[in-house]
Amino acid sequence: MQRGKQMKRAIYPGSFDPVTFGHIDMIERSAKIVDELVVAILVNSAKNPLFSVEERVSMLGEITGHVPNIRIMSFHGLLIDFAQEVDASIIVRGLRAVTDFEYELQIAQTNRIVNDRIDTVFLTTSLEYAYLSSTIVKEVASYGGDISHFVPEQLIDRIYAKFSRK
Ligand code: PNS
Repeated sequence: MQRGKQMKRAIYPGSFDPVTFGHIDMIERSAKIVDELVVAILVNSAKNPLFSVEERVSMLGEITGHVPNIRIMSFHGLLIDFAQEVDASIIVRGLRAVTDFEYELQIAQTNRIVNDRIDTVFLTTSLEYAYLSSTIVKEVASYGGDISHFVPEQLIDRIYAKFSRK
């Protein structure tokens, strides 16, 4: 980074329940265009997540060890407040298909009304992951289906284990 130039920090928020190849692709690509990327896991008990926030932090840490400029954190409450707290000027979100657009646009516009010093930047997801979501992974895993195309190998047994206990 040039001397005197302010660090460009972005925040990539999500539930990551569990993290998928689509998320990893987004993390790798957005980390390349900023100085630091904060991956922010939403702590939302109302959503009844499959994995605890500690488990999600740990899984994200394991599979992003090759990305040097990344910090993994969790947050409660409003994303825009957390972005301000960590001094991020950019929120990164992925757009898979037109179905994501309306929801994402509304959230981005709301966030900008609340705090216009933080902009949302959208990256289109890589084509091979355009269909992929954590919900799809959970659905397939719940029936014992093959999830090796969706998540890194070291996470597969942990995901199946959540369903065998139920
Ligand atoms: O991976 P997800 O579930 O699509 O991520 C959604 C997330 C965490 C980005 C979104 O739910 C969020 O920002 N939640 C925090 C509350 C908030 O700030 N909502 C938007 C303004 S109404």
